[in-house]
Amino acid sequence: MTEALVIAIDGPAGSGKSTLGRALASRLNLQTLDTGATYRAMAALALRRNIELTNLDAIGELARSAVLDFDHGVRIDDIDVSEEIRSDAVNAAVSVVAANALVRSVLVAWQRDWAQRHGGGIIEGRDIGSVVFPDAAVKLYLTARAEERAKRRADEGQESIDRRDRLDSTRSTSPLTMAPDAHLIDTTELSIDEVVSAVMAMIDVARGADR
Ligand code: DC
Repeated sequence: MTEALVIAIDGPAGSGKSTLGRALASRLNLQTLDTGATYRAMAALALRRNIELTNLDAIGELARSAVLDFDHGVRIDDIDVSEEIRSDAVNAAVSVVAANALVRSVLVAWQRDWAQRHGGGIIEGRDIGSVVFPDAAVKLYLTARAEERAKRRADEGQESIDRRDRLDSTRSTSPLTMAPDAHLIDTTELSIDEVVSAVMAMIDVARGADR
C-alpha cells in the first residue's frame, strides 16, 4: 500500500503558507488543512462561552469536549465560525489558547486523525514538521521579511502580528521552530509560480526516493 502523502508547511503569519497550500492541493489532488484555524475555532468557542483564557484546565476541558468539523466550512460544536475566527477578538485571544498544552494535545490528535481520514494532505501550521507529522514526506518552512508579511496581512495590522509571532515563538509547548530536515524558503522576492515549481521538484525527489 502506498503511504498517504503528507506535505508539512510551517512558518509565521503571512509567510505564504495558505497560498502555497492551495496551489499544491490542486496539483497533487490532496486537501489542505489550516491547523491555525483549529486553534482559532477553539479560541472563538472559549470567547462565546466566556471562559477565562488563562484558566488552563477550563480551556483544556473545553477542547476535550468540543466537536470540530472542517468538512463544511469551519464548525465547532455545530456552530459555523468560518468568519468569526478571523475577527480581532480571536486574533487577540488565539495565541494564549494555542499555548495551552491540553488544547495542543487534543488538537494535534484531531489533526492526525484528519489526515488519516483524508488520505494525507497539505497541512499548514507552526509545528507540523516538528511535532504533528515528523515523518511527513516533504517539510517546508516558509519565511518572508516582516514588512512583506504585514503587507499580506494588512487587515490585521503589524502590532497584532508581531505580538502573535512573539507569543508563538517563545511559548514553552511546541514553539514555532523549523524541523532540521525542513526546506527553508524565503518567499519575499518570489512569485507563487516560482515557489510552486521549486516545491513540486522537491516533492518529486521525495517521491522518487520512496519508490
Ligand atoms: O496561522 P494562524 O495565524 O491562523 O494561527 C493562529 C494561531 O494558532 C497562531 O497564534 C499560531 C497558532 N498555531 C499553532 O500554535 N500551531 C499551529 N500548528 C498552527 C497555529
